[in-house]
Amino acid sequence: MDYPKGDPPGRIFQITDTIIMNSNELRQKFLKYFEGEGHKVLPSSSLVPGETDPTVLFTTAGMHQFKRYYSEPLEAPSARVTTSQKCVRTGDIDEVGDKTHLTFFEMLGNFSFGYPETEHSYFKKESIDFAWRFLTDELGLDKKRIYATYFQGENGVAEDRESFDILKTIEGLDEIKPQGFDDNFWSLGTENSPGGPTVEFYVDGVEVWNLVFNEYTFIGGEYKPAKFKGVDTGMGFERLLCSLNKDLDSVYHTDLFDAAHKKLHELLKNEDVTAERVILDHIRAAIFIINDGVVPSNKDKGYVLRRLIRRAIVKAQQIGITENFVIKIAEQYFSSYEGVYSFDQPTILGELEKEEGKFRHTLRAGLKKFEIMKTLKENSIKSTTSAAFFNGKELFDLYQSDGFPLELSLELAKEAGLPVRDQEVELFKHLSKSHQELSRTASAGMFKGGLAEAGEITTKYHTATHLLLAALRQVLGDHVFQKGSNITAERMRFDFSHPDKMTPEQIEEVEKIVNQKIDEDLTVSMEEMSLEDAKASGAMGVFENKYGDKVKVYTIGQTPHISEVFSREMCGGPHVTRTGELGQFKISKEEASSSGVRRIKAVLK
Ligand code: SER
Repeated sequence: MDYPKGDPPGRIFQITDTIIMNSNELRQKFLKYFEGEGHKVLPSSSLVPGETDPTVLFTTAGMHQFKRYYSEPLEAPSARVTTSQKCVRTGDIDEVGDKTHLTFFEMLGNFSFGYPETEHSYFKKESIDFAWRFLTDELGLDKKRIYATYFQGENGVAEDRESFDILKTIEGLDEIKPQGFDDNFWSLGTENSPGGPTVEFYVDGVEVWNLVFNEYTFIGGEYKPAKFKGVDTGMGFERLLCSLNKDLDSVYHTDLFDAAHKKLHELLKNEDVTAERVILDHIRAAIFIINDGVVPSNKDKGYVLRRLIRRAIVKAQQIGITENFVIKIAEQYFSSYEGVYSFDQPTILGELEKEEGKFRHTLRAGLKKFEIMKTLKENSIKSTTSAAFFNGKELFDLYQSDGFPLELSLELAKEAGLPVRDQEVELFKHLSKSHQELSRTASAGMFKGGLAEAGEITTKYHTATHLLLAALRQVLGDHVFQKGSNITAERMRFDFSHPDKMTPEQIEEVEKIVNQKIDEDLTVSMEEMSLEDAKASGAMGVFENKYGDKVKVYTIGQTPHISEVFSREMCGGPHVTRTGELGQFKISKEEASSSGVRRIKAVLK
């Protein structure tokens, strides 16, 4: 069916006569194309990965539900499968509001397992051919708009010459670029997970399709040739839809957002493209997350959901939407996805309404206070004193005691003709930073019963490094060893061997494990023994030559000599006696330290 030319009903935001295909048609076309090529069409898995892949908070790619088939292809329902997978990625949340970034999106994918032994499995040649033919023959994209990239070899992994040779034979593909590990190698980075070089197709400079050739398994920090080879491709559905209807300005102009966008325009008082996009994105993500069983809370997935909903409300407030509105937008999406996904509408609307109610209550209290301050200032303007303007301290008080977000204060102050000066915003930032440090120190016991020793805090950080090392080894693998650490009363720094940047999911998982061990209130016990005995007990220790004959071994979880312990390390101490004393553990930064060594900065709150 041809989508009607011109300005379809509801599409009020972009006048275009080149709507080539709508979302339902494109999704169907993709799945049908791969079905025609012998793929089994499977439904999207939940956004909550659960058993299929407990290492991630949310499903971030099509491959999660198939992860084990790369090493056990006989378990797969077919050697060729295809899906349109619901995904949530929060790593790019600050970029949401531009033309291409989304927190919720669908990923179109085709997969193959067990190459070459398994019948009907395929690898690079077929994958690249399928992709090129789909983009150019099926969708009719102009070949001149497309270029491809391949892996040039890096980090001890060989160049993907095979893909380059295949790409070279494609007629009409004029540009092929070599790229390094960060761009053209894909791996989950967890022990025993598949990984491999990629070929990426770009349309008008925007990456739309990532073809991963899983020919390695990540074991002990190295990429070892896998027994079976597999294919995992992922294409950003909304990006493709936007590229295809090439006059569309952004992913938010695709038909998926039409109804919600229209409703938002009925409600808002002043237009702001970025705020509108954030609202549209966050509410859409929230309804899909709630639909998969998550409710707003202060932990893990529930916290991400809460942040998305509240951020949408703050943005709404900025564009003049002062009453509950979230469910009005949410309802529009139910119709946009009719026949594609089924929604538990009462639960979704109920949770959204409840969360908005709570947050608006907080906002209203802050607003009242703001109004009073504003009136005072307007009065002093007449007398032209400096008290006429909001200062950083006042904004910080509003934020700290009333939970009133800075961005909202700035917006309202501007509207009132009382713009806040840059130096006052800096003062706000400075105050909130000092406040964070102070509350961290206070909760770490600094002011408990008068003046406690600062040493108490460093002791806690010391124990936290042991928990962190054990958690890192659990998540990343046995190649992780401590390479150094530095502790102050404010934070800990920890260097460790690992070749890659940690993914946001891995960081979250490590934090989760450490906090779980803190919640379990495990005992921390110490025993002195000979170096040999210590080694035989499985204790870790990097600075062995520093120790004398007898070494101290700290064990977390059980008494020494019992094998099911969480952590056992040779160490001079001191340490806390129970992990419950540590408070809450939070990684504030993960960065490179030197080649093959990563650095984590973390705090205890
Ligand atoms: N797993 C790859 C990605 O997420 C391809 O599906 O980009």
